[in-house]
Amino acid sequence: MWFSTLLPLLAATTLAQYSTAPAALGPDKNGKYEISADGIRGLFIPYGASVSNLFVKGKDGVERDIVLGFDNATAYEGEVHPHLGSVPGRYANRIKNSTFEIDGEEFHILPNEHNGANVLHGGPDGWDYRNFTIVAHTEDSITFSIVDPDGKEGFPGEVVSYITYTMTPDTWHIKIVALATTKKTPIMLTSHLIAQTYWNLDGFANPDDETALNHTLYMPYSGQRVSVDGILIPDGIILPNAKYSVNDFWSAPKHIGANLTAPELLGNCGTNCTGYDTCYIVNRDQNGPFDWRTSGPVASLSSEWSGIKLDIFSDQQAFQMYSCGGQDGTLPIKSTQGADGGSGFVQQYACIVMEVQDFIDAINHPEWMREKEQIFGPGGPAYTMEAEYRFSTTD
Ligand SMILES: *[C@@H]1O[C@H](CO)[C@@H](O)[C@H](O)[C@H]1NC(C)=O
Ligand SMILES: *[C@@H]1O[C@H](CO)[C@@H](O)[C@H](O)[C@H]1NC(C)=O
Ligand SMILES: *[C@@H]1O[C@H](CO)[C@@H](O)[C@H](O)[C@H]1NC(C)=O
Ligand SMILES: *[C@@H]1O[C@H](CO)[C@@H](O)[C@H](O)[C@H]1NC(C)=O
Ligand SMILES: *[C@@H]1O[C@H](CO)[C@@H](O)[C@H](O)[C@H]1NC(C)=O
Ligand SMILES: *[C@@H]1O[C@H](CO)[C@@H](O)[C@H](O)[C@H]1NC(C)=O
Repeated sequence: MWFSTLLPLLAATTLAQYSTAPAALGPDKNGKYEISADGIRGLFIPYGASVSNLFVKGKDGVERDIVLGFDNATAYEGEVHPHLGSVPGRYANRIKNSTFEIDGEEFHILPNEHNGANVLHGGPDGWDYRNFTIVAHTEDSITFSIVDPDGKEGFPGEVVSYITYTMTPDTWHIKIVALATTKKTPIMLTSHLIAQTYWNLDGFANPDDETALNHTLYMPYSGQRVSVDGILIPDGIILPNAKYSVNDFWSAPKHIGANLTAPELLGNCGTNCTGYDTCYIVNRDQNGPFDWRTSGPVASLSSEWSGIKLDIFSDQQAFQMYSCGGQDGTLPIKSTQGADGGSGFVQQYACIVMEVQDFIDAINHPEWMREKEQIFGPGGPAYTMEAEYRFSTTD
């Protein structure tokens, strides 16, 4: 039904590029779907439209699996659910008091964090707990879709979304389109995918250091960040990342762990949390109109040990970074990761989550003026987000 009304739109966008595609390629024995190009290979699953494995080569020519995940598709539905590699939706990150207002009407979303105080990632049955449908799959590209019904988790109106991952040499492309087909509703998506991907550029195989604290991060446009309370809910304040402060990743590249012992880092990711779980603002406007594909990466992450460098390009104006302070050595790595003699588990600070997204909880902060980026309705423009993850090696 929705499909027939949307078909013209889709033909013009997502599906057109697949019209000459070969017949669908099936899943492997672990229930994963592969796409690849020169120098890069990714495995994906319908559950949460998640990336499960991402293989690139380091400076030694060895292929490393640099994202967290599980060995097979069924393992994702277990009790442990850290949103590994998925697309949270329909509204990523937290919603204060699980409440927001559109055109004077108040909406209450099912809470799922902090004993019911707030919503995280679209509610207890958010998109990252659901199976997406594979609508296209070629050797270098896969498209997932989801129909999120009116009223699900408390959100108004139906949302139909298409998520396309494409590989070109050394590059992973992500394109998300979402349409609010019946009512005005908030939409913010990310790839823990891109959005919720947990990175370790050594594939957990560095014998001297299983953590990612010695990964180097550079966010040249992120001189500001969103201030949050003790449970990571924005309080409306935009803070400066003063030069040389713990949140300064803009004035120069810095190890993630460079300021680990600085007193200011305690409480920086919520009450009693040392590290980062922070929404950085991406300020690119001073040079006038820009093309996100060529205006330089919003973030670069590299590891000296593997020599793998990742440059992230995105059309989004915020960037969430989490330094995995909550990991405690109980989550296993995959059989494609680690090294002989390694722990086999994800230790504290052993991963980095980077999410390209918009300002978090902006639906409760109209003064930030993000309405056009976050509220969508029938007849208006579609929600879109694009990002490219480009890999290279350094010495
Ligand atoms: C999937 O992985 C889990 C966790 O590693 C394992 O317990 C399970 O046996 C695997 N299932 C299949 C079908 O391989
Ligand atoms: C939180 O939401 C509840 C309804 O779910 C509402 O009654 C209450 O006033 C809200 N609290 C705040 C501080 O906005
Ligand atoms: C997702 O699909 C798998 C495999 O078909 C199935 O076992 C599982 O129950 C589905 N999960 C949900 C939440 O629909
Ligand atoms: C990590 O970097 C620090 C400097 O920030 C250095 O002292 C340390 O030796 C490095 N650790 C490893 C295992 O390379
Ligand atoms: C954080 O680390 C950087 C790089 O080592 C250093 O220049 C800066 O002074 C440190 N800041 C704090 C607050 O410790
Ligand atoms: C924070 O840590 C202090 C000292 O260990 C403890 O007394 C307090 O209960 C902790 N607060 C929370 C919210 O965990």
